[in-house]
Amino acid sequence: MATPTAQTPEPQAILQAPSEAAIFLVLCVQESAEDHVRDALADVGGVIRSVGFRIPDGRLSCVVGIGSALWDRMVGGPRPASLHPFVELDGPSHKAPATPGDLLLHIRAGRADLCFELAQRLVGRLGPSVRVVDEVHGFKSFDERDLLGFVDGTESPMGRAAPAAALIGAEDAAFASGSYVIVQRYLHDLSAWDALSVAEQELIVGRTKLSDIELPDEVKPRNSHVALNTILDAEGKQRQVLRFNMPFGRVGDGEYGTYFIGYARDPGVLEQMLQNMFIGNPPGNTDRILDFSTARTGTLFFVPALDLLEDLPARDTGRSQPAQRASAAPRDESLGIGGLR
Ligand code: HEM
Repeated sequence: MATPTAQTPEPQAILQAPSEAAIFLVLCVQESAEDHVRDALADVGGVIRSVGFRIPDGRLSCVVGIGSALWDRMVGGPRPASLHPFVELDGPSHKAPATPGDLLLHIRAGRADLCFELAQRLVGRLGPSVRVVDEVHGFKSFDERDLLGFVDGTESPMGRAAPAAALIGAEDAAFASGSYVIVQRYLHDLSAWDALSVAEQELIVGRTKLSDIELPDEVKPRNSHVALNTILDAEGKQRQVLRFNMPFGRVGDGEYGTYFIGYARDPGVLEQMLQNMFIGNPPGNTDRILDFSTARTGTLFFVPALDLLEDLPARDTGRSQPAQRASAAPRDESLGIGGLR
């Protein structure tokens, strides 16, 4: 992870290793609750410390994203250059719907109880004027597998490639170390998927199932998930995004899903991938994973750097004063826990 300097603000806890547990909360903010929410967001770090400090090995973190409409209602000053609502896609056979959402809380930890406690505390702090419109409790499945049985996340960038893919840099200096995130809740048709042979499934994903090796180009179909999500820039360099998908489900309801979450410094990269999957590349050559997976939600958020989240400028009156905030627990960085990272 890049060490923040005076020039590079500290990011939120985007660049984490995959976690054992996660809770994804998408929330809508009522009209005229904007000032209250801005104050509550300044306190998120304190709430994380209150919950996480007690279990130092729990690696508790939370990333907060702000949707385009709420940004305009709540935040003054300049706007993140690429912030816009999720663009709905209506392809020849598959649809990626845009669904409501003003705030995203991406909560991760090594234990489900920590995620649950933090979700409860943060929703409590945000108060009754903020409504949870989508809530997914994700879990790590075996060796990072999704419920289709494939290892998910292998080619998500690591090391120095991760901040390069996910964090805004000089191209939008006022929002440096911020990010954009797209979330989609997918449901799988596991009966249809399980009726396929492993060899057929591997051609759909583009990797082997047990050993997680990418299929050679001459074998990998053009409509496989990996082929359609391999995007090159003008120089032939791969454009990457940071993914932290998690499985979720309810056995009694026959619900088996993947919560897709992708961070990028340029949301256009994620949008190009979605375009390839749903509209097809070339058009009509859509992602075969969608024949077994239906997108039920779709939302785009901006993720401010840590300092900006804690001191968002008010829409009309300029920057809020830290002294005006409700009290937050004191920061203890000496132990390396409990911050937003
Ligand atoms: C049903 C939902 C999804 C499932 C189950 C799924 C699963 C997978 C799996 C198993 C892989 C191969 C291993 C890996 O590198 O992670 C993969 C790769 C990838 N997926 Fe997905 N994915 C889903 C949705 C998406 C969406 C919506 C996007 C983009 C908006 C996306 C972008 C990618 C990318 C960029 C790769 C890596 C391609 C490469 O460089 O090899 N995925 N996904």
